[in-house]
Amino acid sequence: MTPPGQRVSLAAVRLSDVDLGLVHLLEESELARSTTFRSPTRRDAFTAGRIALRLHISALTGDSPKSLKADYFCPVCSNPTDPGHGIPRYQLPSSNARLRVSLSRSGNWCLLAASLNHGIAAIGVDIENGAAADFDGFASLAMTANERGLLQKAPPAMTAKLQTRLWVRKEAVLKALGTGLATAPSLIDVSALTPAGVRGPALWKVEDIGPASVGLPEDFVASIATRQRGDAQ
Ligand SMILES: CC(C)(COP(=O)(O)OP(=O)(O)OC[C@H]1O[C@@H](n2cnc3c(N)ncnc32)[C@H](O)[C@@H]1OP(=O)(O)O)[C@@H](O)C(=O)NCCC(=O)NCCS
Repeated sequence: MTPPGQRVSLAAVRLSDVDLGLVHLLEESELARSTTFRSPTRRDAFTAGRIALRLHISALTGDSPKSLKADYFCPVCSNPTDPGHGIPRYQLPSSNARLRVSLSRSGNWCLLAASLNHGIAAIGVDIENGAAADFDGFASLAMTANERGLLQKAPPAMTAKLQTRLWVRKEAVLKALGTGLATAPSLIDVSALTPAGVRGPALWKVEDIGPASVGLPEDFVASIATRQRGDAQ
């Protein structure tokens, strides 16, 4: 089997390099969502990420970035007051091909993932900068017993980075599940690269992404989770 990471187009983009003049590529629902950010920095980061994601999909499918129809879906709320949020989905004008995408921002960077592979049912990516998950009480709130065991065995100098590593794996799985943090992170175990706590664990794979392999700065931690279609093995 080809490793999932090789069936997914991945790219890291520096948000400040994205031309915000391309905001016309976005749809009403996306522009409406951008107005919900009070901080101009966060608003620009949101807009840049959405533009970059359209350009990334366009490079994969050949469709023009403006022709992609955003169809974000939140499985938690059926009547969103925050439009255009949830699982990122885009309809292609050219075909009914199964497009799967994911996006993660941290600081001035975002990681984008897109796949047209028929065998992939869901993708999630997550990035964090350095030891972002290193705060008091984090392990007891978000980690499983297995994960806490790994952290206890790690040399003290490695603990913060390992905690962040486990966190990005976990967020990648939660995004591929489509629930995000509406599922308690402590229910998903990512101490191994086949996650536990998900349905059909054999269909799942988590991969750590070397920052240099996608052009992220060295202090970033990144992971991708993929779920295969049940009938594709
Ligand atoms: C989804 C979530 C894990 C994102 O993590 P984060 O570290 O804050 O942010 P990231 O930059 O890594 O990811 C943001 C991206 O995740 C994706 N995303 C959001 N919700 C998602 C979901 N339910 N499933 C999969 N992906 C999701 C979107 O592409 C989003 O990009 P956008 O800002 O352009 O919409 C987290 O914000 C979360 O779980 N939020 C609450 C979920 C919830 O309760 N939703 C109910 C609202 S009614």
